Amino acid sequence: MAGAALAVLAVAALAIWIDHRDLADRLLRQQPQVIQANAELLHRAITMGRPLYSKHCAGCHGGELEGSAARGVPDLARNAWLYGNDVVDVERTILYGIRSGHPKARNVTDMPALVRTGQITQGDAHDVVEYLQKLAGASFDQSMAERGRKIYYDKGNCYDCHADDARGVIDYGTPPLTGPVWLYGGDRATLYRSILDGRHGICPAWVDTLEPVQIRALALYLVAAGADRRLQTGNSRVGSG
Ligand code: HEC
Ligand code: HEC
Repeated sequence: MAGAALAVLAVAALAIWIDHRDLADRLLRQQPQVIQANAELLHRAITMGRPLYSKHCAGCHGGELEGSAARGVPDLARNAWLYGNDVVDVERTILYGIRSGHPKARNVTDMPALVRTGQITQGDAHDVVEYLQKLAGASFDQSMAERGRKIYYDKGNCYDCHADDARGVIDYGTPPLTGPVWLYGGDRATLYRSILDGRHGICPAWVDTLEPVQIRALALYLVAAGADRRLQTGNSRVGSG
């Protein structure tokens, strides 16, 4: 009797193991676009990715992908991606991180401390803040914004990293400076602080911690959840990061 029960259990365990191996195989072998177009497979990837998110990422990225401006963690719930919403790009970010110290990390540039290094003056920074207020559709001081516009395209070199239209550059991971989604914040004081001290946000590399299939599942989950509010709840928030 006990022997038969054990045999049934062993068969069940084997079936689960084969199923998991088969799923991992399908998720890694197929192109991400093919998985995204396959509702059943995408659902299974999301089912694998969501608890991994809660365990490893929610501490910084928030229980509902909302991020944290105080810590410079981007809001992934509003589909505003620094590095684009292509699954392959998101997967690369998760693998190697951002300014993580890993040799393959995303690290093309960061936000220089323009005032501290003397490239622009405090007055210049206040002027450029008014220009950014104008771009964001907030109230602004006309003559300061006019001077700030010149700083943006000339002395401050802002356009070089944030683009001519100030909408950011995916290849550099520069945020748009037009709102409404901000990395650190779009109020005057926070904008000024970004320009005064610079910013150097860090996301860890996961290549040595998670399996390739787990990283792919996380990328598929994040891209799906960024576009669909119903998928955003990563249930319990784990740790405080
Ligand atoms: C060498 C490239 C570079 C230059 C030049 C540069 N930035 Fe940035 N900036 C960045 C990067 C990269 C980030 C994102 C930093 C991060 O992810 O932590 C950033 C972030 C910011 C932020 C934070 C935005 C947010 O969403 O909270 C502001 C504001 C900003 N820059 C304004 C400016 C202004 C104004 C200038 C010109 C006076 C300027 N930057 C020049 C690269 C640059
Ligand atoms: C210690 C805090 C921390 C943890 C833990 C963390 N992240 Fe991040 N993550 C960040 C920060 C900060 C940024 C923004 C970096 C910057 O300024 O560019 C970021 C950015 C990202 C981005 C880029 C988003 C975009 O807009 O392109 C992705 C994707 C990402 N994280 C995924 C993850 C995943 C998946 C996990 C868990 C496996 C994770 N992160 C864990 C802090 C963290």
